[in-house]
Amino acid sequence: MKRVFSGVQPTGNLHLGNYLGALKQFVELQEDHECIYCIVDMHAITVPQDPKVLKTHILDVASLYLAVGVDPKKSIVFVQSDVPGHAELSWVLTCCSYTGELSRMTQFKSKSHNKESAPTGLFSYPVLMAADILLYDTDVVPVGTDQKQHIELCRDLATRVNNTRKKTFVVPEGRYLKEGARIMALDDPTQKMSKSAENIHSRISLLDDPAKIKKSIMKATTDSEGVIRFDQENKPGISNLMNIYSVLSGKSIAELEKEYDGRGYGDFKKDLVEVTVEALAPIKERFDEIRYSDDLIRILKDGAARANVIAEKTMARVKENFGLGL
Ligand code: TYM
Repeated sequence: MKRVFSGVQPTGNLHLGNYLGALKQFVELQEDHECIYCIVDMHAITVPQDPKVLKTHILDVASLYLAVGVDPKKSIVFVQSDVPGHAELSWVLTCCSYTGELSRMTQFKSKSHNKESAPTGLFSYPVLMAADILLYDTDVVPVGTDQKQHIELCRDLATRVNNTRKKTFVVPEGRYLKEGARIMALDDPTQKMSKSAENIHSRISLLDDPAKIKKSIMKATTDSEGVIRFDQENKPGISNLMNIYSVLSGKSIAELEKEYDGRGYGDFKKDLVEVTVEALAPIKERFDEIRYSDDLIRILKDGAARANVIAEKTMARVKENFGLGL
């Protein structure tokens, strides 16, 4: 069985982009893959965090994993800092990476605002991400396309080590969905939907109530043509809404174009509100059941123990191949 690994940062409530780009894949893949899903708290501290808030967010994201359908009987779910191998392997990979390739990462450039001096953690963020993936001999990494450059770096690092030393790592493949891979902000469809944008109506969070969902969708930026047609380049607003509608309802883009032929954006948006509210209601319900249950901590501890068994095996191989330790 192929092995899958992915992670999400515990920075606030997750949004539809996280769900449609990544989490939805997590649930589908666990049926016929060996899946390992992580809450990457060490990535979160590359920017300042309030310790109490971070702890809350870790449990929120873990609960959201379970609420969308990640099943701890089928998948390993754990918190990154509970498995020491991530930090260990990250250092080894740091010694195999170059400042040139890391400074080309677009996420680093945008998060460091192109300043001359930036936090080292932000700079080496993709190396830690590569360590997450390579630690588990991962074959497949389900993510949104915003992570593509990081996945390519991970593949480069794995190949470099394999070519210059003994074969040490499995070289993983990124897995991107066709429609959910890049969900755009509702207020500005040229920007990706993000957790950190100031305008709360730029995103739909998985725990938003129906009134908020309605307001955000009805306010979403479209265009003046008023025709429901998919055209990412010239009609990014309505195309983004069509993507969301398509993935949430299971209807193809062509079916949506046909169904809404001759109808206006108002009609379309009203229906999208309904589809979204319906899709998110069971997630919110399950979240409320899980978030404060004793099961949650038990699942995460058990997940860390299982992940650690795999991680220790990889680290023993890495140490051997690099000549580290006794
Ligand atoms: P993060 O926490 O920013 O996002 C989690 C996942 O959601 C996807 N995503 C999106 N997909 C579609 N449209 C969007 N607007 C959108 N916004 C976010 C992301 O692509 C991601 O799959 N570096 C990663 C976390 C990470 C990781 C890993 C992922 C750390 N280690 C190892 C995979 C494997 C990140 O910051 O994701």
